[in-house]
Amino acid sequence: MNQNKINIAIDGYSSCGKGTLAKQLAKLLGYKFIDSGSMYRAVTLYCIEKDIDISNETLVSNELKQVTIGFEFNEKNERFEVTLNGRNVEAEVREMKVASRVSEIAAQSAVRKYLVSMQQKIGKDKGVVMDGRDIGTVVFPDAELKIFMTASVEVRSERRFNELITAGKEVTLSEVMANLSERDRIDSSREDSPLTMTNDYKVLDNTQLSRDEQLNIAKSWALEYINQN
Ligand code: CDP
Repeated sequence: MNQNKINIAIDGYSSCGKGTLAKQLAKLLGYKFIDSGSMYRAVTLYCIEKDIDISNETLVSNELKQVTIGFEFNEKNERFEVTLNGRNVEAEVREMKVASRVSEIAAQSAVRKYLVSMQQKIGKDKGVVMDGRDIGTVVFPDAELKIFMTASVEVRSERRFNELITAGKEVTLSEVMANLSERDRIDSSREDSPLTMTNDYKVLDNTQLSRDEQLNIAKSWALEYINQN
């Protein structure tokens, strides 16, 4: 399988299971899974911790040279976890304080330019499954397989709410739903690299699908390409 390595781009709305699918597919194919959203979240966490005015693009842009984002492999959960200046921040970047500001940061061109170039380096030798909002449109426009994931906002909110509650966070379902809707609005309407789909994407609506069902669909798409080439 590894001889014909491809890149797989998974884009879509907030919390529709892109990460879950990306991780499953990467494991199955022996590829690397990179969650590009965690990089935007890490920049946001940096700004919050340094008390930088997130609405001021110049200030944020000037800070970027102080921000080193990396990934370290966690054997236990088989994930590449995000690091911020050497510190593992994988859990912290999921908190609502970050979620509530990340789309503002992600709309800024200097931030996007900085992170997209890192993402492209990670994918240059292929064999990467990356999920985000602009992976198939901007980061890897030549990705061999592009998947656009979607699910109803109710189902997405419940899934994210349960995740946060299981992680011991204090949140309400309505707070989570409001955050997802607001991020979707900002992500889809921003000028630089908005969340959008071109006609080379395959659409996967997982509102009614189990994890295994969604994996089977995506697996058949990936194998179809790999076996044909
Ligand atoms: O996990 P969830 O779907 O809630 O979000 P995420 O993938 O962690 O992404 C967090 C935020 O980062 C998104 O709402 C976008 O504003 C931004 N993002 C982006 O602009 N481009 C990407 N490739 C990935 C994330």
